[in-house]
Amino acid sequence: MTDNIHFYEPRAGHGLPHDPFNAIVGPRPIGWISTRSRAGVPNLAPYSFFNAFNYTPPIVGFASIGYKDTVRNVEETGQFCWNLATRTLAERMNATCAAVPPDVDEFGLAGLTPAPSRLVDVPRVREAPVSFECRLTQLVRLQDAEGRPAPSWLVLGEVVGVHVDRALLTDGVYDTARAGHILRGGGPADYFEVGPEQLFRMFRPT
Ligand SMILES: Cc1cc2nc3c(=O)[nH]c(=O)nc-3n(C[C@H](O)[C@H](O)[C@H](O)COP(=O)(O)O)c2cc1C
Repeated sequence: MTDNIHFYEPRAGHGLPHDPFNAIVGPRPIGWISTRSRAGVPNLAPYSFFNAFNYTPPIVGFASIGYKDTVRNVEETGQFCWNLATRTLAERMNATCAAVPPDVDEFGLAGLTPAPSRLVDVPRVREAPVSFECRLTQLVRLQDAEGRPAPSWLVLGEVVGVHVDRALLTDGVYDTARAGHILRGGGPADYFEVGPEQLFRMFRPT
């Protein structure tokens, strides 16, 4: 046991130069989410409070801190796409987080190409090697331990269509280490790229 522990209660502040929460729960996969407004304007933004939550049916989710354009579009249309952010797309992914008015299309802003989806009326990022077409399953307003609503929304959606660049399939197996996934760390600018050097294998006990 060690008592060299910094303990803090987040409601009272962390007492450190930077809040470590994001750096501890990290690196996180990035939900690069495309949507379309009711008026038809495409929207694209990164959400690193993102993960997968179920296999069958496959469900992914992301949290919006504030009621942002993406949440409004998903609530209005019931649809979104997830696009894989890779090292070669990192700077363009970052460009899509610009706080711009709802009538501005971030695809154009970041020099990305909207590609049609098959099952939802939402454009995918053509340059992304993987995209999921998703239908909204739940939109949850987050709350604190006393049940008071937080100004944050969790969007959950079923993955109803998957597009995978065959170049990332080795003998039919998806090769995460070769795809160049990027993940979000803490602080204002930390990211990680996943490559073969980070891979280790461990099987479950039988
Ligand atoms: C890598 C990255 C991750 C982000 N993750 C989140 C997140 O999890 N939740 C959030 O509300 N905003 C997040 N943001 C900020 C949003 O992308 C930003 O507010 C954006 O303008 C929202 O766009 P929208 O209004 O078109 O939905 C993130 C930004 C970056 C660059």
